[in-house]
Amino acid sequence: MISALRLRHGISRILLDWSERLGEEFCMTPELQDLFTFLRFPSISTDSRHTADVRACAQWLITKLSGMGLAVELHETARHPIVVARNEHRVDCKTVLIYGHYDVQPVDPLALWQNPPFEPEIREGKIWARGATDNKGQMLAHILGVEKTLREQGELPVNLIFLFEGEEEIGSPNLAPFLREHREALRCDVIAVSDTGMVAAGVPTMGYGLRGIACAEVTLRGPKGDLHSGIYGGAVANPATAIARLVASLHDSNGKILVDGFYDDVRPLEAWEREMWQQIPGVADADFLAVTGSPSVFGEEGYSSAERVWARPTAEVNGIGGGYQGEGSKTVLPAEAFAKFSFRLVPDQDPKDILEKVRAHFEKHCPAGVSIDIYIGHDGKPYLADPHSADGKAAQRALTAAFGSEPVLIREGGSIPIIQSFREILGADTLLLGLALPDCQIHAPNENFPVANFEAGILLNQHLLRELGA
Ligand code: BES
Ligand code: ZN
Repeated sequence: MISALRLRHGISRILLDWSERLGEEFCMTPELQDLFTFLRFPSISTDSRHTADVRACAQWLITKLSGMGLAVELHETARHPIVVARNEHRVDCKTVLIYGHYDVQPVDPLALWQNPPFEPEIREGKIWARGATDNKGQMLAHILGVEKTLREQGELPVNLIFLFEGEEEIGSPNLAPFLREHREALRCDVIAVSDTGMVAAGVPTMGYGLRGIACAEVTLRGPKGDLHSGIYGGAVANPATAIARLVASLHDSNGKILVDGFYDDVRPLEAWEREMWQQIPGVADADFLAVTGSPSVFGEEGYSSAERVWARPTAEVNGIGGGYQGEGSKTVLPAEAFAKFSFRLVPDQDPKDILEKVRAHFEKHCPAGVSIDIYIGHDGKPYLADPHSADGKAAQRALTAAFGSEPVLIREGGSIPIIQSFREILGADTLLLGLALPDCQIHAPNENFPVANFEAGILLNQHLLRELGA
């Protein structure tokens, strides 16, 4: 792996450092101590039992940021607080907003973790904990890059606004209204975010796009209660069968989505992107197979795996259920069944429009003999920027300086809905400076973040401030 990367991508100092340090004891630097403290807060935003933990995490941030000499504000929302911090702004300086989220995903299934998710450990050169990558490790790299610059230079070369929320993992319900309310105070020239990925270890990666998202849930109901499947089976429809048919109606056997009008607004890939992406390491089919463990790749015909993930829309079933789930068999005809869906969207698809088309599809394809209840969930627009803008080039120089090789330019398959809202409300584009590796296992058990990425991230932020301020 390392030699292949060296050949294809030049020698990366970070990668070499990292490989040399494998198996070596890591000393607890003050930076790692900060990260461990940050990671110990179980700031799970979706779970109301953790509301106080989310707040305690915000309070820790307030203490950390004021200790750096920044002016800090905690803003209450209907749910979890927003933290804003800034240096003293000067009229002749560019204003850079850095965004991150301090909330994390739930930890289940807990039994699959090798260490308790909120008791971070370092093994194999990686920090293992929920939030290590998404997003606490990457977010703290921003903070510590600023702290180091302040310590070494006494001031920052830019006007800085830190904006940290505790609700990203639940769709940022309160952040866009906050942006509208504080539009003037948050006015900025450019935004930087480390909450995305690198294509492979040691390969600096700049994102210039994100997919949008639209979520929905369907419940199908049949009889008024569970029935004996021998006494009634054959006489009434089975909601579990019906939900399977409804799910199956979304795709043809080649993975193309069959919702009427679904592709109407999809912007075709640019020829230069397709060509550029063919040169990128870490995204060949073999890489997808290695990371996912799937027996083969599968997706829309006519596109590479990277293109399918970065620039084509999808319809995914995130959960499906109904009927008996216990050991052995139980002859039941379940009263209801459900499925949860999310659709990943690309420019210029509009989430609200897609959700209407999806609703029409579900109503049209609902099998006979059941009633349908459609719940529409949260959504977020896709994002696409010009990677060759002046700020984009500054970010690429910072990546080159921090990692010792030229960055690759990608779009991201994941979603950060607030990024498009930043553009619409604040009028600023976002530099996506991802530090996550494909095997960081974000949202899954054993989430991890290489110490090398954390350190490179701190360095990256020092270079970024300098490049953007120049
Ligand atoms: N950091 C991720 C998004 C991400 C990860 C983008 C890796 C690109 C590469 C973020 O925290 C996240 O998980 N977002 C959610 C969206 C949200 C609306 C629930 C997602 O993409 O599922
Ligand atoms: Zn996430």
